[in-house]
Amino acid sequence: MEVIIRPNADAAADLVARIIARELRSNPRLALGLATGCTMESVYARLVRMHREEGLDFSSCRTFNLDEYVGLPGNHPSSYRRYMNHHLFVQVNIDLQNTHLPDGMATDLVAECANYERLIAECGGIDLQLLGIGQNGHLGFNEPLSALRSRTRVKILSPMTRAQNAPLFPKPDQVPHRAITMGVGTILDCRRCLLLATGEEKAAIIAKAVEGPITSMVSATALHLHPECTVILDEAAGGQLKESDYYHWIFENQPEWEPFHEVLSPFAKNGIQATDQSEKQRVEAMSDALE
Ligand code: GLP
Repeated sequence: MEVIIRPNADAAADLVARIIARELRSNPRLALGLATGCTMESVYARLVRMHREEGLDFSSCRTFNLDEYVGLPGNHPSSYRRYMNHHLFVQVNIDLQNTHLPDGMATDLVAECANYERLIAECGGIDLQLLGIGQNGHLGFNEPLSALRSRTRVKILSPMTRAQNAPLFPKPDQVPHRAITMGVGTILDCRRCLLLATGEEKAAIIAKAVEGPITSMVSATALHLHPECTVILDEAAGGQLKESDYYHWIFENQPEWEPFHEVLSPFAKNGIQATDQSEKQRVEAMSDALE
């Protein structure tokens, strides 16, 4: 595992987007694992900007999301399908047929989970998996005590997770109780993992995930078993790490990171989140038209 601490959330998202863009340019048929959550929004905004301004090409890219709520159709405003369409897919030149999320409306959920694993395998496996982290250390929806070798399956969501995700629903009691999620083992099979966490509220769980012992109580600790895992943080999320100096030293001295050393890209400086109102409305209309 490598840990990179950037000065702020914009710089952290910027680095993640640039790593993804680099991999996509070197392999246009990249099988890209995607994550949802507020943290990822600025990564997707950067990828959209790179598509528009630098011609970043998604036309041959295949995507697999980590998870989806059980019982929410793809056109539900709080579904992860809707989130992905809205934040990324309708804004780049990806073929929607190549974008995959588990179907939370499947009548046979067990078969749907097996089918999702099969789709990933048929694609040749996931090349790069983007990950966020929940307050309880979950990856996807791998709640505490998820087996470290688990595969895609239905998980019941903990009270902490339902509370954490409640702001994304009209009312807290509308947060589904279950979700389909890739398993910890599914995630560990990806060729490369990239975890992004920002903000002080993630500092305690990041300290456990990065410097704590491996335990199924904190699914993210399983990433220590992955041969190619990079954790990218802002100063706030890295605030409770004991060995920050060492992580900074690695980033400064590891030749692989040299191309990423230059100061923040113009995207970070300009504050990519500040999309104007008409652009927001245009994207809303495109997402709605899909449903
Ligand atoms: C949800 C997703 C996770 C994600 C988490 C973090 O629970 N299932 O994959 O890591 O949200 O979300 P946020 O970035 O909003 O903190």
